Amino acid sequence: MEVKRVLLRDYTTLAVGGPAELWQVDHPDELPEATAAPYRVLGNGSNLLVSDAGVSERVIKLAGRFLEGDLAGWVGAGSLLPLWVQEAARQGLSGLEPLLGIPASVGGAVRMNAGTRFGSIADALAEVEYFHQGRLFRKAPEEIGFGYRQSGLPQGAIVTRVRFDLKRAPREVIASRMAAVDAARKRQPKRKSAGCAFKNPDHDAAGRLIDQAGFKGFRVGRAAVSEEHANFIVNLGGATAREIWRLVQAIRAKLPLELEWEVWGVIDP
Ligand code: FAD
Ligand code: EPU
Repeated sequence: MEVKRVLLRDYTTLAVGGPAELWQVDHPDELPEATAAPYRVLGNGSNLLVSDAGVSERVIKLAGRFLEGDLAGWVGAGSLLPLWVQEAARQGLSGLEPLLGIPASVGGAVRMNAGTRFGSIADALAEVEYFHQGRLFRKAPEEIGFGYRQSGLPQGAIVTRVRFDLKRAPREVIASRMAAVDAARKRQPKRKSAGCAFKNPDHDAAGRLIDQAGFKGFRVGRAAVSEEHANFIVNLGGATAREIWRLVQAIRAKLPLELEWEVWGVIDP
């Protein structure tokens, strides 16, 4: 276990966020000590808006043993999902194709039930192991309960590893499924972001609504609504959490949209 002071802007894809105490945990045996005071869990930081003032809680990041895995067995929750998407394709195993292009850790993807219109991670899970209140639990996905960008994991639970439910398939079938997912991402911007900012309302798309309201290119300081896809708020370089938050508020003042990102710390006192 390693404990150090860091700037969370170095650990989030939006590249925003102030100081915190990072508890890098290498082994399940270290979780009781790491969780003995208030904490948050950091995955790959791809769905977070972190305050410029940082956070007061410990920030737990899974490393060491949690990065290991094997598609035939357990896969560590700290490992990167894109690596497993590629590895499954290489081995001729189908199930992870819908998750192509999601820059998540495995644990963060389970917590958020990350997915695309082709499917979400819950559809590809056989079993989830998590740490909660000093104990490890193993549950089938049906026992946890998953919905659109949400899971029924208990508050504070730390996903430690998962088993995927993958099926053998011809490589060209897997490749063509991945090509379809890739094509659906074509208009998504390459700039720093946290993915879609807002959840899609029933039977509509937040991107379409924000676009129609004329927000494309709208800026607050160094934060902007992407010109390519209106549901992406991008950091043009050097944006603050406060600027991003003001942009979020400006959109919400016009449209009744629910924020998808998790917000850490106090942003607009
Ligand atoms: P973080 O952002 O670090 O954390 C998110 C939440 O998960 C927090 O509540 C955190 O505490 C919790 N968490 C993290 N690890 C664990 C753990 N081990 N146990 C318990 N809780 C944990 N999302 C989609 O669903 N579909 C997409 O197509 C998509 N495309 C994206 C494209 C880009 C370019 C970017 C930047 C993001 C995109 N996202 C997408 C958003 C993001 O990748 C997902 O929400 C992802 O699930 C977040 O995972 P993470 O590991 O980065 O989690
Ligand atoms: N649209 C516009 N203008 C825009 C953007 C989109 O009119 O600026 C329209 C499109 O023409 C389309 C509709 O809105 O008719 C939907 O757009 P798109 O196909 O790009 O999909 P999305 O609903 O915006 C969803 C997920 C993405 C996921 C893609 C691919 C949500 C909030 N978003 O995007 O997930 O990658 O489908 O399947 O569910 C994320 O959750 O962070 C994320 C990026």
